Amino acid sequence: MAVTVKSQREINLMRDAGKILAEVHNQLAEIIAPGITTLDIDRKGEELIRKAGCRPSFKGYEGYPASICVSVNDEVVHGIPNKKHHLFEGDIVSLDAGVIYQDYQSDAARTYGVGKISEESQKLIDVTKESFFRGIEYARAGKHLYEISSAIQKYVEANGFSVVRDLVGHGIGREMHEEPQIPNYKPIGRGIKLCAGMTLAIEPMVNAGKYEVWFLEDDWTVVTRDGSKSAHYENTVLITDGDPEILSLV
Ligand code: MF3
Ligand code: CO
Repeated sequence: MAVTVKSQREINLMRDAGKILAEVHNQLAEIIAPGITTLDIDRKGEELIRKAGCRPSFKGYEGYPASICVSVNDEVVHGIPNKKHHLFEGDIVSLDAGVIYQDYQSDAARTYGVGKISEESQKLIDVTKESFFRGIEYARAGKHLYEISSAIQKYVEANGFSVVRDLVGHGIGREMHEEPQIPNYKPIGRGIKLCAGMTLAIEPMVNAGKYEVWFLEDDWTVVTRDGSKSAHYENTVLITDGDPEILSLV
């Protein structure tokens, strides 16, 4: 399937989906504390998504068993919530969530510290988030896709961290994963030319150590090879002729 440009009606639905998802994340942020389990986060997230009249897009996606991906410390993404996995002071936890509202999707991720965390962990969280904002400086009609990728990579590496290569951002709309793929590092070439009406999920995944990852036996959880911590920050973004509109942030 080719890259899609959304109509005004579709954009409005994606705005609604994004706003709901932003609020789900804001409410989940409130429950992050030492002692809760990763399954508590999933349960609360699913409840909030359904209460808002949406479906959790991750649940059942290629067999994924939960509504929220909860990835702790060296888990990069796609951690599976578990009632035995408690959060501890000093952990960092990434929450990735997706909603479907009237057939349109939004996808967003945040990383939080649990209680008091190390300076290095806080820097990792801050650099990951800031790299997203550096990237979307180039998320404008007329720019090329890999200008976003390149800006993310430069900022992350200038801060001594590395961007994961094996997972990428993506177009989003009626499907969670649409074209184009959006690497967080600069591939060869410059990528497609961006047009107003494209909707993109831009999602830097940043490791404190090296960029290599392993895929665990559960077929989902992605972890850093070197055991270093990893952070994730993602929003669904609308390309316009002017500044990008971040749909999943309020
Ligand atoms: N947010 C993830 C992505 O951008 C999707 C989670 S995978 C799932 O690709 F299986 F949980 F849906
Ligand atoms: Co995504």
